[in-house]
Amino acid sequence: MDLLEMVNKYGDKIDPRLADATFRVLKKVPYVRSLVEKEFESITADLEKMAKPYRGKTRSFERLPEEGVDRKEVLQEMTGITREEEKKWKNGYASGAVYNGDNTHIDFLNKVYALNSQTNPLHSDLWPSASKYEAEIASMTAAMLGRDHAPGVCGTVTSGGTESILLAMKTYRDKARVERKITKPEIVIPVTAHAAFDKAGQYFGIKVVKVPVDQNSRADVKMVKKAITRRTIAVVGSAPSFPHGAIDPISEMSELARKRGIGFHTDACLGGFVLPWAERLGYPVPVFDFRLPGVTSMSADTHKYGYAAKGTSVVLYRDSYLRRYQYFTTTDWPGGLYFSPTFAGSRPGALSAVCWATMVSMGEKGYLEATRKIMTVADKIKEGIASIPELQIVGEPLWVIAFKSDLLDIYQVLDFMSKKGWSLNGLHRPPCVHFCVTLRHTGKGVAERFLLDLRQVVEEVKTMPASKSGLAPVYGMAATMPIRSLVGELLKKYIDILYRV
Ligand SMILES: Cc1ncc(COP(=O)(O)O)c(C=O)c1O
Repeated sequence: MDLLEMVNKYGDKIDPRLADATFRVLKKVPYVRSLVEKEFESITADLEKMAKPYRGKTRSFERLPEEGVDRKEVLQEMTGITREEEKKWKNGYASGAVYNGDNTHIDFLNKVYALNSQTNPLHSDLWPSASKYEAEIASMTAAMLGRDHAPGVCGTVTSGGTESILLAMKTYRDKARVERKITKPEIVIPVTAHAAFDKAGQYFGIKVVKVPVDQNSRADVKMVKKAITRRTIAVVGSAPSFPHGAIDPISEMSELARKRGIGFHTDACLGGFVLPWAERLGYPVPVFDFRLPGVTSMSADTHKYGYAAKGTSVVLYRDSYLRRYQYFTTTDWPGGLYFSPTFAGSRPGALSAVCWATMVSMGEKGYLEATRKIMTVADKIKEGIASIPELQIVGEPLWVIAFKSDLLDIYQVLDFMSKKGWSLNGLHRPPCVHFCVTLRHTGKGVAERFLLDLRQVVEEVKTMPASKSGLAPVYGMAATMPIRSLVGELLKKYIDILYRV
C-alpha cells in the first residue's frame, strides 16, 4: 500500500488538526520529506503535462528576445493559440468561465476596449470618463439589488469577486477596530462560502468561523447564531454558493446580524446579475439583497453574469459611511496626496468602460432574456441528471448544478467527461461535480450533448476500476486526506508548475 492509498484508506479516521500538527513536525524529517516528494512526483508529472500543452509546439521565452519579434508574427502565433483554446468554451464545453461569449457581443466589447485602452481611473483629471463609468456601474448595480428600499446603497468597482469580498472584509475589520476596539476579529461563514473569505482571513488576520450547511447545502441558521461572539465583525451568506448553487437563508442570517449590531455580507458574485431577473420570471428566489434591513454589504460580479469582460465586479455598502472604511488615503508621501478606493493603484479604465458599455447595451430586457434562456436550459439539464439513477443532484439548485454519486467514483466521471472535452468543476466535501450553466449552453443541442455524454460516461465508469491518473486521485486525496497542509503543499507545487516556462 503506498502513501496515497494509505491516506485515502485511513484518512477519515484521523482528526485533521492532530494530523496537521503531526505532519508539520514529521515533514522536517528527511525520510518523510522524500516519501512525500516521491508520492507527489507522479501526480505533478501528470498535472504538468496538462498545464503546459504548448511546450515544444510554440516558441517560449525565458528571457527577452534580443530583437523584438515581428508584430505580425506575434499576432499570428497568438491567433493560433486563441483559436485552439476557444474551441472548448465557444462550443459550450466549459462550466461557467465564459458567461456570454457571443461573437457580436465580444466584437462590441473589443471595440470599446480599444477606444479606452489607455485610460486609468487613478488619473481622474485625465480621464473623468473613467469615474463617470464606474459611478454609473455601481449605481446601476445598486438599483438592481434593492436600493429602492435602502437609498444610501453605494459601492465601488473592483477587479473581480475576490477583490470585492476582500475589500468588504477589510472594511468590516477596520470599522470594528475603530468603533468597537476589536483587535481579534472573527467572521462567521457557511462552509460553502467562497474561498475568498478564507483568503480575507489569511490576508487580514481575521479568524474565519465556519458553520455547517443542511442537507440542501444551505447554512444552518442555529449554528450561525451559536457561532456569533463579541468579536464577530460580520456574518456571510451566499446567493448562491459557488459549490452547489444554494442560496443561504439570507433573511434569517442577516436578521441575526442586525440584532447583534454587526455587518452582514451577501455574496452575490455569482447570482447578483441572475437572481433579480429569475425572480421577475417567477422562479423561487428568496429575498437576498438590500431589501433586507440586515444586509449591509454585497458583492456582485459584472464579469460573470453581468457579461462584461473579465476584470470587474462591484462591492456595495448600505451607506457611504461604511464604504469610507474601504478607502485608502495618505497625506505625507513625497509623491503627493494619494488616495485609492480599492487595492490596486493604477487600474485598467478600459475594463470599466467595457463593463459600462455592456450594462447599458444589455439593459433590463437583455438581462431578463439572458436569464430566461439560462434557466430554461438549466431546468432541462437538471431533469436529465435526475433521470440517471447513479447520480444525485445536490440540494435544489437553480442554474449551478452539482451532482454526486453514492455508487460511482464521481471523480472518474469528471475525468471521463474531460476526455470527452468537457471542462466541469470538481468539488469535495461531499465529492461532487458541478456544471454552471451560462449563455454558452443555451445554443442548439448543447444541453442534449452534455446529457448524452454524461449518460455514456456513467455507463463506462460503472465498469472501471478506480483511477490512479488524471485528476481523480488529487480530488480523492483532497476529499479524504486529513493532512490539509500536505494537500496545500501539492497546490503550491501546482502554482510553481504554472509559472514554469
Ligand atoms: C459565490 C462566489 N463568490 C466569489 C467568487 C470569486 O469570484 P472571482 O473568481 O471573480 O474572484 C466566485 C467565483 O466563482 C463565486 O462563485
